[in-house]
Amino acid sequence: MTFKIALVGCGGMGRRHAHGYIELRKYFDTVEMTAVCDVHRDVASKVADEIGIATGSKPDIYIDFDQMLNSATLDGVAIVTSTPMHHTLAIRAMEKGLHVITEKPMALTLKACRKMRDASERMGKVLAVAENYRRDPMNRLTRMLIQSGAIGTPYFALDIGVGSSNGSVMHSTVWRAKKEQAGGAPLDAGVHNADMLIYLLGGVDTVFAEIAINENQRTLRPMDEVAPGLADMYNHRREDGHQIGDVVEQTAVDTAFAVIRFNSGAIGQLIMTDTSHGQSLGVSTISGSKGTLYRPRSRSGDSPRIVTADGTEITDDALLELVPDFELEDTLSILWNGARRISSYEMDFRDIDSKILAYEYLDMVAAAATGGEPEVGPKEGMDALALAYAMMESGVSGSPVHVQDVVEGRNSLFQDEIDAEMSI
Ligand SMILES: NC(=O)c1ccc[n+]([C@@H]2O[C@H](COP(=O)([O-])OP(=O)(O)OC[C@H]3O[C@@H](n4cnc5c(N)ncnc54)[C@H](O)[C@@H]3O)[C@@H](O)[C@H]2O)c1
Repeated sequence: MTFKIALVGCGGMGRRHAHGYIELRKYFDTVEMTAVCDVHRDVASKVADEIGIATGSKPDIYIDFDQMLNSATLDGVAIVTSTPMHHTLAIRAMEKGLHVITEKPMALTLKACRKMRDASERMGKVLAVAENYRRDPMNRLTRMLIQSGAIGTPYFALDIGVGSSNGSVMHSTVWRAKKEQAGGAPLDAGVHNADMLIYLLGGVDTVFAEIAINENQRTLRPMDEVAPGLADMYNHRREDGHQIGDVVEQTAVDTAFAVIRFNSGAIGQLIMTDTSHGQSLGVSTISGSKGTLYRPRSRSGDSPRIVTADGTEITDDALLELVPDFELEDTLSILWNGARRISSYEMDFRDIDSKILAYEYLDMVAAAATGGEPEVGPKEGMDALALAYAMMESGVSGSPVHVQDVVEGRNSLFQDEIDAEMSI
């Protein structure tokens, strides 16, 4: 049976989803994107045309989500709107009996996430989160290396992402400058870092953080200046009410310095900012009793690297000897041109991105077919968002925060204002 899915939100990431679907169709015919929806007809049209040309079957175009739910025959929806709409649309879809895959972050706040999780349980529908970094084959390998004891007992992780956006609005998308729309690098991008830390080292107990808005006036600059590698994915989107050159008030936190205690006892340091002018620093390492693992940049295809206590460096295929059981899952392997045991790969970013998205859809559809769980479901989506928000909650309270309190809503001072704004 073919799983009929609609793409909702056809902006920058929505277009990347369309490319993921086009990639999926090269290998599998189990999913069919029969509808696309965006409040801007021309934006939806652009994506529908691309899909039609590439697959020979153009999806129907909708500009109203509810009208689409009432008239299209669907099994599921992929929600790729800006973050504030995730929970509302996901809940409506599940209440109509549809399965859902939603972009990260799972929702605007943990309260919105809990409502989504409850709807998924009540309706018995899959709720998957399109968290992409962990599906990179090199992150699969990294996890296996840690689990197999290649660096011994993990002591601490450093995850430092320090760069400059030159006072620009992140990704040229105004919603990313706004606190009440889940914007800001430590949250919008930090949720990826959070998911990866948990994926590699397990759950987090406590977080202590300092946060800041260093640059509360941001200039809206074109994507080819702000993020040239993604510019052509975003050139069709619309920014209502704003034009290039506008100065936008940034209310979202742009800087977070956090110290983390994992349940295992390991310690982590997570630092994220886009206000580091003249200095760019990216460190992603995990150090343990036998050595340090240097994590590759997600979606680069680069090999992880281990340096042991005596200075020996282990990288590329030598790593595979440490993990005899390492193999990519069947669907990931098919998408990766049949690769099973790889320690690096060379591929254009676009292809990597599309293959990972294709895998996310297949994972969600498999969960719907078997009644099983998607790899990243409500629990994983909420744990990652709670770790990112724990930095904010600790930052405003000045105290260490238990991540589980954030998950369950016992610690929500920072998020309360956002929930109030959204009337939830
Ligand atoms: N996984 C990743 O690597 C990654 C990367 C970028 C963005 N994202 C996530 O994807 C989501 C979208 O981000 P983006 O950069 O594409 O933003 P965007 O602003 O470019 O696109 C959002 C689109 O949603 C549409 N939209 C808004 N409300 C709608 C509604 N009610 N019905 C239909 N369409 C609606 C907008 O018109 C816009 O075209 C965000 O949640 C973001 O965090 C994830």
